[in-house]
Amino acid sequence: MPNTKSKKPEKSPSSNGKNKNAKATQETNSQLQKFFEDSLKDIYWAEKSLTKALPKMQKAATTEELKNAIEEHLTQTETQVVRLEQVFELIGKKAQAKKCDAMEGLIKEGESIIEETEDGSMTRDVGIIMAAQKVEHYEIATYGGLAQIATTMGLDEAADLLNETLDEEKEADEILTKIAENNINWEAEQETETE
Ligand SMILES: [Fe+2]
Repeated sequence: MPNTKSKKPEKSPSSNGKNKNAKATQETNSQLQKFFEDSLKDIYWAEKSLTKALPKMQKAATTEELKNAIEEHLTQTETQVVRLEQVFELIGKKAQAKKCDAMEGLIKEGESIIEETEDGSMTRDVGIIMAAQKVEHYEIATYGGLAQIATTMGLDEAADLLNETLDEEKEADEILTKIAENNINWEAEQETETE
């Protein structure tokens, strides 16, 4: 029979069979753990930086509505820092921050918006809201991914903590959208017309 060897190619990708696969899985897991830990350090840096950046944004904002929303999110952010420390503890690692280039860029963008818009203008609030929403979206992507990885690795408690923060970020994003839609965008548009 010419095709007696036909079964061989099926097995050939891993001639060592299960042992090789098991090893590969183990390696993947430790790589994933390392990635998870590195991403935690990244977002830990980001949140800590936000606890410093948010008060500046709040101070620069024009409307009380936006000031209040930022203040509320600052309180949440402080809690989120603590939650991340709890996640580090759950994986048996020391909480450590590693500079997050993306968040640094987003914070800088917010600072330039403040510099480029007039003090007391509604356009400044529109800009701050946009900058803050970019931050929220970055965080939503990060926490969504981290929670998923935690679940995959069977770290249910860590996943719960990460999902809790994820929900807060989503809520903050929605609040900002509402503020923009209800008043600020419209008033900023009037501002442009009268100038
Ligand atoms: Fe956050």
